[in-house]
Amino acid sequence: MITMDDIVREGNPILTKTAEEVSLPPTEEETETLKEMLQFLKNSQDEKIAEQYKLRAGVGLAAPQIGISKRMVAVHFEDFDGKQYSYGLFNPRIVSHSVEKAYLSTGEGCLSVDREVPGYVPRYARITVKATDLEGNPVKLRLRGYAAIVFQHEIDHLNGIMFYDYINPANPFEAPENSRPIE
Ligand code: NI
Repeated sequence: MITMDDIVREGNPILTKTAEEVSLPPTEEETETLKEMLQFLKNSQDEKIAEQYKLRAGVGLAAPQIGISKRMVAVHFEDFDGKQYSYGLFNPRIVSHSVEKAYLSTGEGCLSVDREVPGYVPRYARITVKATDLEGNPVKLRLRGYAAIVFQHEIDHLNGIMFYDYINPANPFEAPENSRPIE
């Protein structure tokens, strides 16, 4: 199973690299890795397992974060309106997005970042994502609010971008233009 020992931390160059597209259909090993990434997120949100294995709770994980520079992400969370998102995705990409921006009023965190980085992270308020799921089916997701933020954070990891790259260093808590807070 994946534990915190497997999670690559900031400073490792793999986190600033562009990850490789997965050629489809994925290999058995790639599918197994992606299933394990999803299982890690579930474990990290299970109080008992998380305590036993000292897992920090996470809602998303990208393959570069376990040292694999391939375009695979897992997400497991409930949106603020109670909708459940649980996916392992190959080659996820944002095919369209709103002009309007949004940001989490609490800022963002990352399993690869062992410190608080305060500040607003401007994101698109709405995105459409296309990808291939663990069963090999094409998926198209229309996302808004918290869900849109999580997916953008994870897809950024495939492009070598960290959430704090977007924070305005001069004024970290200035609301981005044309944006609304998500709280
Ligand atoms: Ni992250």
